[in-house]
Amino acid sequence: MNIRVIDPGEVSARERYQLMTSLVVPRPIGWLSTWSADGVANLAPFSYFNAISVSPMLVAVSIGHLRDGFKDTLVNLRARGAFCVNVVSEDLLVPMNESSANVGPEVDEFVLAGLSQSTSDRVDAPFVAECAAVLECRVQQEVDLRGAPNTLVIGEVVGIRLAEELHFEEGTMLVIPEQLRPLGRLGGSAYAIPGVVRRVPRPDAR
Ligand SMILES: Cc1cc2nc3c(=O)[nH]c(=O)nc-3n(C[C@H](O)[C@H](O)[C@H](O)COP(=O)(O)O)c2cc1C
Repeated sequence: MNIRVIDPGEVSARERYQLMTSLVVPRPIGWLSTWSADGVANLAPFSYFNAISVSPMLVAVSIGHLRDGFKDTLVNLRARGAFCVNVVSEDLLVPMNESSANVGPEVDEFVLAGLSQSTSDRVDAPFVAECAAVLECRVQQEVDLRGAPNTLVIGEVVGIRLAEELHFEEGTMLVIPEQLRPLGRLGGSAYAIPGVVRRVPRPDAR
């Protein structure tokens, strides 16, 4: 195999973004729903998103800054201290993508994407009624990424909503992936649709 070595300092910021987002793959999509200070619902997908701890249950999302300010999601998180993470199943690919439109804070992306909004009774945020799994989160902290044009927000999961149609693998609370059918983000406009799921048990201690 011939290898090409790329120094991140030699390529443009756009190219670094393209390399990063096509190589750290597939990424889960945190589809975040929030309310603005004056009560407008907001919905946007973030694939710089992951689970980072279980006790407490923490998730992290990295929100890019705009040239002239902050994305509505970050503004709302700061105002309300809460958000919901709506798990994006395969059938919600199109509305998820529509909700990423760059629109003003007065626009409710639930309406834009043709989705139904429900209200969390645990945190001060709405959620997507069509989603089979929702994590209700309180903002725990913001982490300074030292000069990066992003803010990392850590949220504590204080409630988990699961549709009755979703079942667990026997004797566990592992949600069956063939029922959840979660989308993964690849580079650019590419998405990974769940295919055949292979189960490989972990090796015994040696
Ligand atoms: C699948 C997908 C993943 C995205 N991931 C991120 C991300 O991790 N960070 C980010 O800042 N923007 C991300 N975006 C872009 C935001 O969704 C977009 O800027 C959106 O308009 C922000 O909405 P808001 O201003 O209502 O918060 C992503 C878009 C898509 C379609």
